[in-house]
Parts: sequence; structure tokens; C-alpha cells
Amino acid sequence: MNNQEREQMLAQAKQWILEAGAHIRESIDQPRQVTTKSDAKDLVTDLDEQTEQFFTEKIRSRYPDHYVFGEEGFGDEIASLAGVLWFVDPIDGTMNFVHQKCNFTISIGIYEDGIGELGLIYNVMEDDLYVGMKTQGAYKNGTRLPALKSGGDLEKSILAMNAFWATPNRLIHHEAMQQLVQKVRGTRSYGSAALEFAYVAEGMVDGYLTMSLMPWDIAAGIILVDEVGGKTTTGDGKPLNMLEKNTVLTSQSAIHQEIIDTYIHFK
Ligand code: IPD
Ligand code: CA
Ligand code: CA
Repeated sequence: MNNQEREQMLAQAKQWILEAGAHIRESIDQPRQVTTKSDAKDLVTDLDEQTEQFFTEKIRSRYPDHYVFGEEGFGDEIASLAGVLWFVDPIDGTMNFVHQKCNFTISIGIYEDGIGELGLIYNVMEDDLYVGMKTQGAYKNGTRLPALKSGGDLEKSILAMNAFWATPNRLIHHEAMQQLVQKVRGTRSYGSAALEFAYVAEGMVDGYLTMSLMPWDIAAGIILVDEVGGKTTTGDGKPLNMLEKNTVLTSQSAIHQEIIDTYIHFK
């Protein structure tokens, strides 16, 4: 994809994301149909589904040869990263959407043959749009985000993470997570993975660590963090698999390896 194609696609994606976001804001106080998916904490609403349908229809009519990998199943069956692929999380942070009516995002990542080209994360209620463009930088509401600081110190860092991972769980040793919580200056948990990636890119937090995210949760955020010089890998430092669930650490580069080496111990 050349710069001109990327710019055109960005303009189009921006228009759709702002339109979908405005619709969500307008209907925020309407009663919702809330159901659960994989477990009792995994919520989905009629608006998650309608929003994904909106994007899928728009993408298919404007770009019939592109693929859609969406959370709610309105997109394509995706088994390969070949071609142009739109990762769509129509509402990231559905629990926040249902309970708090804030701190949720629409997250769209556009990849070509597995390479991240464009990432858009829209904080709907704040009307903040984060954009990452391959080799062209990361932006918040049109203003370029500066590069992340290079000499980070874990003791002076704020880390976004869910408290769940510092309690006994099947995946990692929680005692080491507790040590990490004690080591850093503070922890935060915002409840929308895409928003947490955007906050890493913005330098609001120094890293975000979590053990279970799907490709649509991270596709846009990876590009943003990359463009400000940060790093995103699995929890054991490997490249992410954009077709499957991943453990994820995204952070400014200086603290990345120390978190992996010292604090993430898989069972
Ligand atoms: C969830 C949110 C949440 C993260 C979960 C995700 P959803 O996405 O990003 O912060 O902890 O792992 O599944 O279900 O609200 O789109
Ligand atoms: Ca999500
Ligand atoms: Ca979602």
C-alpha cells in the first residue's frame, strides 16, 4: 500500500468511526439488550453487534476485495493474514459501556499481508481519536504524539494491568506479579485494552500487561505504540500471532525486557 492509498483509507475509516461513535453517544441512555458470551463476565450488547455490522457493510461495499476480522462474527472466517484485513472491535470495553457509559473505544486496525498499516482507536465519550500510520507517526486528534522516553526506570513507571493477574490464576505465577505491582510506582486498570494501548502511546502509562487478548483488541494499538518507539510482544517476548489469542506486553522499550525477564513466569 502506498502513502496515497493509506491516506485515502484513513480518511474513509475516520469518517466511519466518527459516524459510528456519534451514533453510540446519541443512544447511550437507551435501554440495552445485554447478553453473555464465553462466561458470565464476557458481555455483549445489541449495539456491539449493530456497530460491527455497520463497519462490515461499509467495508464490503467500498472495498469488496478486503477482509474483515471482527469480534462479533459479522466479518469473514479468517485463517490467513494475506491481503488487506480490517480488524474490527466495535466496542472495546463493553463492561465499561454497560456499567459506566464511558471508557470504551472503537478499535480498527488495517493490515496488509500481516503488516500493520493503519490503526484507529476512538474514545467514544471523550471524542478523542488516536491514529497510527505506518512510518508516518501516531496522532491524537490530529496532533502528533512525541516519541516515548528512551531511558525508563521501572520504579518510576505506571503500569496498566488488571488486578486479576496478581491473584492465583492458571497461566502465570501471581506471586511474581505481586512483586511487579510493588516495584512500579503505580498501577492502573482502564478496562479497554485499546484505550490502554492508546495511553501507552500517549505516555499516560509506561506499559500495559495482560494475558489474554484477541487480535482485534490489539491490532490498532500495536501500530500506535510502534510509531512512538514503543514495543509490543507476547508476555514471553515473542512476536504476536495476529490470528489467535495472545499474552501481551506493550510498553516503552526501556522497561520491556525487565518486565518479561523478572516478573512474567508462565506455569
Ligand atoms: C475486553 C477489554 C478488556 C480486556 C478484555 C477484552 P471487550 O474487550 O478490552 O479491557 O481485559 O480481555 O476482552 O470484550 O470489551 O471488547
Ligand atoms: Ca475487545
Ligand atoms: Ca468488543
